[in-house]
Amino acid sequence: MKRRIGILTSGGDCPGLNAAIRGVARAAYEMFDAEIVGIHDGYRGLIEGDCSEMKRSQFSGILTIGGTILGTSRTPFRDMRKIGDDQVDKVAAMKKTYKAQKLDCLVTLGGNGTHKTANLLAKEGLNVIGLPKTIDNDLYGTDFTFGFHTANDIATGIIDRIHSTAASHGRCMVIEIMGNKAGWLTLYSGVAGGADVILIPEIPYNINKVAEVVKRRAESNKGFTIIAIAEGAMDREEAKLKKKDREAKRAASHFSASAYLAQQLQEAVGVEARSVVPGHIQRGGTPCAYDRILSTEFGVHAAELIRDEIYGVSVALKGNQVHHNLLSEIAGVPKPVPVDHQMIVTAKNIGISFGD
Ligand code: F6P
Repeated sequence: MKRRIGILTSGGDCPGLNAAIRGVARAAYEMFDAEIVGIHDGYRGLIEGDCSEMKRSQFSGILTIGGTILGTSRTPFRDMRKIGDDQVDKVAAMKKTYKAQKLDCLVTLGGNGTHKTANLLAKEGLNVIGLPKTIDNDLYGTDFTFGFHTANDIATGIIDRIHSTAASHGRCMVIEIMGNKAGWLTLYSGVAGGADVILIPEIPYNINKVAEVVKRRAESNKGFTIIAIAEGAMDREEAKLKKKDREAKRAASHFSASAYLAQQLQEAVGVEARSVVPGHIQRGGTPCAYDRILSTEFGVHAAELIRDEIYGVSVALKGNQVHHNLLSEIAGVPKPVPVDHQMIVTAKNIGISFGD
C-alpha cells in the first residue's frame, strides 16, 4: 500500500509540533510505503504550491526542537473564500496543489482556525486529518492539545521567579499569561504557581474584589500579592462593551490586561503594582516530556487513520485515550473554561480569588 501524505503546520506555533510531525512520519514509514510532502508556512504554502517532498532523514533529530520545521503562518479562515487583490481563489488553489502533488491525504496541525479550514477542505472532497495543537488548550473535543503542558511549565516557572522578588519588595505583581479567549493556561499555571488571584476571560472581574485581596495581603505579614491574569481577561465594566469597542478602548490606552489592572490597583489600593508580560517566551523552546508523548501519540494515530483510510477527522485525547472526532462536529467550536470547572472549584477551595 502506498500513500502520499501532505503535511502542514498552521497558526501560532507551539512546542510539540515537530514531535507530532515526526510521529506521523515515523509511523507512516513503519506501517506502509509512505511519501511525505512538507507544505511550507501552513495554508500559504498550500495556496501557493510552496512544498517539497521530504526525506526520511528530515524527520530525525526533531523530537526535542521547539517551533516547526515546516514553518507556519496565519491565514485567517474568514478570508479563505474571499478573492483578494491578487485575484487568487484560495480554495481552488489549495485543491490544485493537492492534486498537482498527487496527495492521498493532507495532515493539518493547528488550532481552531486551522481546523475550520481543514473542515472546509474536507467538505471540498479532500482527505484531511487534523491534529490539535495550541498552548491555549481551547479546542473542543479534546481534553488537551499538545503545547499546552509545556507552556504551563514555562508560565509556572515564570510565576515562581516572580514570587521571590514580589516577596522581597512587598509588591503586587501582575503576570500576564497568554490566552485571549480562553483562560486554561492562566488557570493551570496560576494554581501551579500559587497565585493569590487568577483572572480569566470567562469570569469578568470586579476590581473591588481584587483590590480587597491585595489590600488584605498588603496589611498582613505577607505583604505581597501574585496575580495571574489572562491577556484576554476583562473587568465587569469592559465586559459590558461589544468586543470591537473593548478592543478599541484597550488599543487607545496602550494598556495590556496586566498594565490596566496594575494601574487600577495602584489607584484603588495605593500599593506598588507591577505588570510582567512574558509573551512569546511561553510558546518557545523544547517540548516537555508530556507534550513529546502526546504529540507522538497523536502523530501515530494520524498515521493509523491514513492506513485505515479514515478521513475528515481530528485526533483527540479523551480520558487518557487517543481517539478522533469528526471535523464537521468540532471545527470552530470553542472550548472556554467552564465557570464550574473542577480546577476553579479546587482553586477557590484553597482561597484563590477569581475577582468574582
Ligand atoms: O493561539 C496561541 C496564542 O499564543 C494566544 O495565546 C495568543 O493570544 C496568540 O497566539 C498570539 O498570537 P501571535 O503569535 O500571532 O502574536
